[in-house]
Amino acid sequence: MTYRLLEWDSAFFGFRVARFYLPLPTNVPGNAGAAADASWRAVFDALTRDKVRLAYWSTPVQGGEPTGDLEELGGRMVDLKTWFGMDLRQLPDTVAPGNMAVVPYDATMPVADLVDLALQSGEYSRFAVDPLMPAGKFTALYTRWMLRSLARELADEVLVARVAGRLAGMVTLRRNQDVGEIGLIGVHRDYRGGGVGTALVRSAQHWFVERGLRRATVVTQGANQAACRLYQRCGYRLEQQEYFFHFWLPSGDE
Ligand SMILES: CC(C)(COP(=O)(O)OP(=O)(O)OC[C@H]1O[C@@H](n2cnc3c(N)ncnc32)[C@H](O)[C@@H]1OP(=O)(O)O)[C@@H](O)C(=O)NCCC(=O)NCCS
Repeated sequence: MTYRLLEWDSAFFGFRVARFYLPLPTNVPGNAGAAADASWRAVFDALTRDKVRLAYWSTPVQGGEPTGDLEELGGRMVDLKTWFGMDLRQLPDTVAPGNMAVVPYDATMPVADLVDLALQSGEYSRFAVDPLMPAGKFTALYTRWMLRSLARELADEVLVARVAGRLAGMVTLRRNQDVGEIGLIGVHRDYRGGGVGTALVRSAQHWFVERGLRRATVVTQGANQAACRLYQRCGYRLEQQEYFFHFWLPSGDE
């Protein structure tokens, strides 16, 4: 299958969204020539016939940064998607969550503050950085992600950090078989650089270890240096990266 329509994304955005799977054409120097490549042309013809407005595509970094005529096809690089992982059994016993108050979310905490933190956590997201993304979609998406995490639909736990009684940061956690995943993590602008992010990641790792999980993973954006360094300082290692593109097609239905 060279492409597939994404039902959830299409319903959420209100226009047709697809993901396609094609290698970059290799016969042209500098990876140029996608617009002239027969398989790319065939996929774009099919996407156009299918009235797709937004198509996602990614390619591993090993091939080098894609250049050439992808922009001619409506392509824009919106993310260097970056996976970190670690073996939780290597976590030193001496690593404690620190003296900051990190506690599980409970229903007495202000949901609006948590949504605000979720929006701050997504500032490098492809939905925030793509200038062609319709207004309000990023906010709607991250608001929904936070609310569904608090409802335990997209997360198994939400931990919050308090500094002087104020909500300074949050992290959402999910257990995926024997892997512990961080979903959203954000520290309020007023508190960044003060160790809150470290306390949240350490607390997440302890939550995973307490449940006998063996590995921990997190996905972030390569452009988000603060997040990449935070994870590395907490023992995560870079595992994989890919360039992620949005292709906006003129043919799509509103
Ligand atoms: C990423 C984030 C959670 C870090 O939280 P924080 O409380 O500021 O982090 P800490 O104070 O615990 O710092 C931990 C390490 O992160 C790195 N770091 C933090 N801020 C940084 C910055 N602005 N630039 C580069 N590195 C930074 C440092 O290596 C730091 O350790 P060090 O000071 O000992 O060198 C926070 O900046 C944030 O909320 N950013 C916006 C949301 C976001 O990017 N979320 C992640 C999405 S995957």
